[in-house]
Amino acid sequence: MISQTKNLLRVLNNEKTDHIPFWFMRQAGRYLPEYKALRSQSKSFLDFCYNPEMASVATLQPIRRFGMDGAIIFSDILVIPHALGMHVWFEEGKGPLLTPIHTQAELAKLSITALDEKLSPVYEALKLTRAALPQETTLIGFAGAAWTLACYMIEGKGSRDFQTPRALALREPEFFAKLLALLVESVSRHAINQIKAGAEVIQIFDSWSGVLSEPQFKAWVIEPTKKIVANIKAEFPDVPVIGFPRLAGTKYYSYAKDTGVDAVNIDGSVTLKMAAEKLSSLCVIQGNLDPLVLVEDKNMMLAQAKEIISTLGHKPFVFNLGHGILPHTPIEHVEALCDLLRQK
Ligand code: CP3
Repeated sequence: MISQTKNLLRVLNNEKTDHIPFWFMRQAGRYLPEYKALRSQSKSFLDFCYNPEMASVATLQPIRRFGMDGAIIFSDILVIPHALGMHVWFEEGKGPLLTPIHTQAELAKLSITALDEKLSPVYEALKLTRAALPQETTLIGFAGAAWTLACYMIEGKGSRDFQTPRALALREPEFFAKLLALLVESVSRHAINQIKAGAEVIQIFDSWSGVLSEPQFKAWVIEPTKKIVANIKAEFPDVPVIGFPRLAGTKYYSYAKDTGVDAVNIDGSVTLKMAAEKLSSLCVIQGNLDPLVLVEDKNMMLAQAKEIISTLGHKPFVFNLGHGILPHTPIEHVEALCDLLRQK
């Protein structure tokens, strides 16, 4: 193993350090006035993501303000469906929209061939960011997992329970297997390209893993993720991979045991007791402050952050949230949390 001086990398390599590293999902975003100012210069969200200078500035904004240990590159999980040839756009108040695919004929029109070129602005943004980051800060690349990307590609938008993709996967297993295979290849390629451009860690977001039953979770979350992790590790065995099977509850255990990830980001579907007793012997834990508590109640938030640290901080642990920072989060609350974490 390469010896590391960066706290976050050391912890993800399962070392215990004096300081508990921290970063927050969606740490670049609308709760920051400087983000809103930058975002207003670009008409569409995807144009913004594909502008390397702007994406790099957005990535650095929270680091300059709060000094997190990790900088996650500013991009989106839906750049993969876009790079495969899908029509993807974002509408204010509606979230992401895509022209859905439901048939083998529609799937056959998608192609991985242009992925490297179409996503080259993301890689350029990583290079710019890496050159500008403080030495001690770890650069994090990311991608959506195959299941979550398939959800958006089939549903064509966000959903509470993604019934359409779940039903289609059961009704058209051949179509669905082909789609997952294409996504495993695409996500692996995108992750590897990001590492080549300077990402030192990869986080895989499976935001909709929580809607699945046990056999579906195994087939559509664990199996594809295991392949993605193996593909990344085949080229970059020392680059840590963090998995985030959001709302997976007790299924976090098999995810941590069977996918090969180095760390899991936990959320509120996992008790701190289960994380400490069952998960922390399998991999590094990252998480899990409720982002809504960060918005609503500073004192409760600080008390819960201390509780998380006292339960999980005796083993290699990365402090994060249970989901992304919400747009209406008071900056003063984030400051208070960072002040606390800097002392830990
Ligand atoms: O964490 C970071 O700071 C890095 C950037 C990042 C974004 N999206 C920027 C973004 C990351 C890691 C993501 C991941 C992402 N995108 C996920 C997985 C994590 C999760 O939240 O479950 C998902 C499901 C998406 C798809 C997506 N993109 C959604 C559901 C939305 C919300 C739409 C909305 O209006 O809030 C987006 C848009 C998006 N991605 C924004 C940001 C900062 C907000 C749009 C804006 O600023 O105009």
